[in-house]
Amino acid sequence: MKLTAEEQDMLQGAYGRAVQKAMQILVALGTIYEAEAMVAVSSVQVAGVSYDNLGEAGLEFLEEMAGGGGKVRVLTTLNPAGMDIENWQAMGIDPVFAAQQQRVIDAFTRMGIIPTCSCTPYLFGNTPLFGEHIAWSESSAVCYANSVLGARSNREGGPSALAAAITGRTPCYGFHLEQKRYPTITFDIKVPISGTYAFGVLGKVVGDWMESCSPKPVPYLMGVSSASLEELKSLSASIATYGGAALFHIPGVTPEASCFSPPEEKIVITRDDLARAAESLNDVGEEQVDFISLGCPHLSLREVARIAELLAGRRVRKTFWITTSRPVKRIADSMGYTRVIEEAGAIFAVDTCCVVAPIKGRFRALATDSAKACFYATAKNGFKTRLLPFDRVVEEALL
Ligand code: F3S
Repeated sequence: MKLTAEEQDMLQGAYGRAVQKAMQILVALGTIYEAEAMVAVSSVQVAGVSYDNLGEAGLEFLEEMAGGGGKVRVLTTLNPAGMDIENWQAMGIDPVFAAQQQRVIDAFTRMGIIPTCSCTPYLFGNTPLFGEHIAWSESSAVCYANSVLGARSNREGGPSALAAAITGRTPCYGFHLEQKRYPTITFDIKVPISGTYAFGVLGKVVGDWMESCSPKPVPYLMGVSSASLEELKSLSASIATYGGAALFHIPGVTPEASCFSPPEEKIVITRDDLARAAESLNDVGEEQVDFISLGCPHLSLREVARIAELLAGRRVRKTFWITTSRPVKRIADSMGYTRVIEEAGAIFAVDTCCVVAPIKGRFRALATDSAKACFYATAKNGFKTRLLPFDRVVEEALL
């Protein structure tokens, strides 16, 4: 790779051990992917925050980077942790786990990372503009940033994202390059899609089709006439989970789509395709559900407000987690939404989610509107799942 003089100095250790280690990681990555040079990044989002996923080895790496003088050069936020940092006791988190999780957060904070643990950083200020080069690692957020915001990111691993934050660079390959952003396959959707649930199911259908493809195609989704922020975040999460997609285009909805014509290879998606996909994520009836969660990806303020509206004056009968970011929760506090939701008996699980929290074995079956959450509820925690539209999920908690 061709490095600038400053990048060479980083690699030689002139900026300290942590910067040197970070540049070594990036050069190794760039060499594997045949990047010709580095590109400067303006924003980073680091995944691999939950101690449940990191373990002792991951924690040691972070403490070594913090101890070696690692400091971030650009705006950097974190993916969800394994617990609500301020209210972990209410989630039933083991104190030993909580102590280790806090060490993880402390190591990140020492490096200058904003300890806002969320997969929707674009909702509260880590919001790149069109064309900005960034290094994000949460798959749903990468897909949203590329597709909806028109920013440019590969799907980074935790260490490579941290290395990008410390150096302000990332290897210039993949979605940083114009020619890799062209759509390569058309999906013609023959049925109206509406709501986070339906967009999640659509992401599963497209993702399942892409799953075995190598290299991954860039889908061009025809037939979607409009989509809200919440619907696009649901689609981004689902299509990334099931198909490994990091970029899609929707004409009339996403910003780069108008630059391209629909690719010739075309797959038609019918009502039956969507129904089959939805059915595959519904393996229990309501009587078996003992855990409800909304907020995968983390809820927007509009979604929290809707939950408050639906729960006002009512009482939930099952464990119901509301997962969102700390900044959204703070606004919900000041608007009175939190009080209404907590009076109904639901629990805010801020900074975390039903996938990264250590809850294996605690529940039998999850009800959610998120196709992504269904995938991991089964794969990681062994739960059965019930996928429902957003409002129906709230109703399920009241049964
Ligand atoms: Fe976010 Fe957790 Fe879902 S990180 S996208 S809420 S699995």
